[in-house]
Amino acid sequence: MEKKKLSLAILISGGGSNLQAIIDAIKNNKLDAQIEVVISNQVSASGLDRAARENITTYVIEHKSYPSRGAFDQAMTQVIDAVKADLVVLAGFMRILSKPFIEHYQHRLINIHPSLLPKYKGLNTHQQVIDNNDKFHGASVHFVNQELDSGPIVIQAEMPVLATDNAETLAARVLIEEHQIYPMVIQMIAEGRLSFDKNQLNLDNEPLTRPLCWKDNQLT
Ligand code: GRF
Repeated sequence: MEKKKLSLAILISGGGSNLQAIIDAIKNNKLDAQIEVVISNQVSASGLDRAARENITTYVIEHKSYPSRGAFDQAMTQVIDAVKADLVVLAGFMRILSKPFIEHYQHRLINIHPSLLPKYKGLNTHQQVIDNNDKFHGASVHFVNQELDSGPIVIQAEMPVLATDNAETLAARVLIEEHQIYPMVIQMIAEGRLSFDKNQLNLDNEPLTRPLCWKDNQLT
């Protein structure tokens, strides 16, 4: 009997290039997962077109149509649970999630953030890197806990900041790295190699005590 694929619910707010990277990884047999649903809180998110092109079910759940954050999150929960998603993937989803939502998906909710966390939580990460003359920048994939852009980090892609960089060039280069590491982490979960349990990340049956590092297209 064929093994059940890891089922994903992907939450987006914008362009959805990370969503596309996940779609492509599945198509190229690099990721044993199935996207059950894509939810956007923005009707104008062009990531919705990417999903529709692949015949993936999409939902627009506009946060502004709900009286509270909790009610909005509850509407998303209904859709995610109806498709029995194993993993909830935040891919450029620009809303803060409520405590009950995060608790409901504890250990199966992941996010990608464009900085070397714990540096630069929140917005405008690339400009902050420029303003602070940082030598390195990158992206982090982490399980989500109750604090913004926190939670145990699985992997960080790291790259040098060039003298010629500005926020736009950095954002573009970081995205290229994001597209490598996000499907990679999801595949580790799909293979049962990576888990987050009792506040502990485990990879290949060993506690993961420091984030994996993706640099120059290599994992260390
Ligand atoms: C990415 O930089 C991601 O790290 C951040 O939002 C951006 C989303 O880009 N959370 P896209 O919508 O996947 O193209």
